[in-house]
Amino acid sequence: MAGSYGGKQAGPLPPGVADFYSDTKSMPSREMRQAALHAPLGDEQKGEDPTTTELLTRVVALLGKEDALFMPSATMANEIAVAVHCRPGDEMICERSSHIVNFEGGGPGYLAGVQTHVLDGVNGMLSPDQVAAALRPKGNLYIPETSLVAVEQTANMGGGAVWPLEALRGVAGVAAAAEVSTHMDGARLMNAVVKTGTAAATYAEGYDSVTLCFTKGLGCPFGAVLAGSGEFIQRAWRLRQIIGGGLRQSGFMAALCLYALDHNVERLADDHRHAAQIAAALEDLELVAAVLPTETNIVIFDISSDGPAATELVAELLERGFLVGAFAERRIRIVTHLGVDQDDTDRLCDVLATLLTPR
Ligand SMILES: Cc1ncc(COP(=O)(O)O)c(C=O)c1O
Repeated sequence: MAGSYGGKQAGPLPPGVADFYSDTKSMPSREMRQAALHAPLGDEQKGEDPTTTELLTRVVALLGKEDALFMPSATMANEIAVAVHCRPGDEMICERSSHIVNFEGGGPGYLAGVQTHVLDGVNGMLSPDQVAAALRPKGNLYIPETSLVAVEQTANMGGGAVWPLEALRGVAGVAAAAEVSTHMDGARLMNAVVKTGTAAATYAEGYDSVTLCFTKGLGCPFGAVLAGSGEFIQRAWRLRQIIGGGLRQSGFMAALCLYALDHNVERLADDHRHAAQIAAALEDLELVAAVLPTETNIVIFDISSDGPAATELVAELLERGFLVGAFAERRIRIVTHLGVDQDDTDRLCDVLATLLTPR
């Protein structure tokens, strides 16, 4: 699982490389940057930044929640959510491949004193029955209390899989019946929305808190929003302050996020089209053992035992001008986003065909 993910590139990428490593790699466009220049600003920590307030008002309506808080990153939003929902010694349930478990530096243990109870799902998604079976009974002096169930929409390491509404509702229902809180890591929620036409608020219904991120696919250099009830956000505000995440003239960044909501959501469909093209091309190649179902902008595939190791393939692709990620000995992840276009996609498919066909 670890692979090269999270690893640091040794310096800047060579010029001209098409970066399919992650949708976090996109650069803010000139128009997006312009949006920040004249944004009205104030001290966010004092509630005086009009542009941040405008962003939060938009996200509250989008997600159907009472209140929201601007955050530097989705990791910070997720980790603060965990700490608000749980007490030290509690347990949270999440899927084994989830970002909270694998890529947030052990935050639930470090920041919240929370133990993670990981379940093996299908493409990053859990069933309500699985969650029901994993909930711990309350009131036992020895057993940790389950206080949170977290889901990831879309599921990054599940190949950008879109949780069906029924499963999301089922998991939320099982948790609510047991008086357990729910959090949705919706870092790529807008990908699910664009893919299915289901509203973000519909997906978020039944979830006590939701993280929405602006640096995945939406093209921003900064920013996430955590949304929930008024009381939840008050507690999140305090925790953000404790860990030094209070913001000042954050409207400068919020303006970029507003620009992204207005201009970069619909176009996620292009990313989905490019990813589907790559997945279809891979399906036909002899040295590809399996491709995860590709619904949105993430393609995950396994190289067959006759093919190169994942790190070798990454190196060969880089030599030919493409960056992708190795996530296990034979597993590769390719992510499409607004920084790679149709031409990059066509060229990548050609090079993959050359490298993954026996010579
Ligand atoms: C599903 C998911 N959640 C959260 C994050 C964390 O986002 P950030 O980089 O804004 O901390 C990521 C990052 O890739 C992610 O894929």
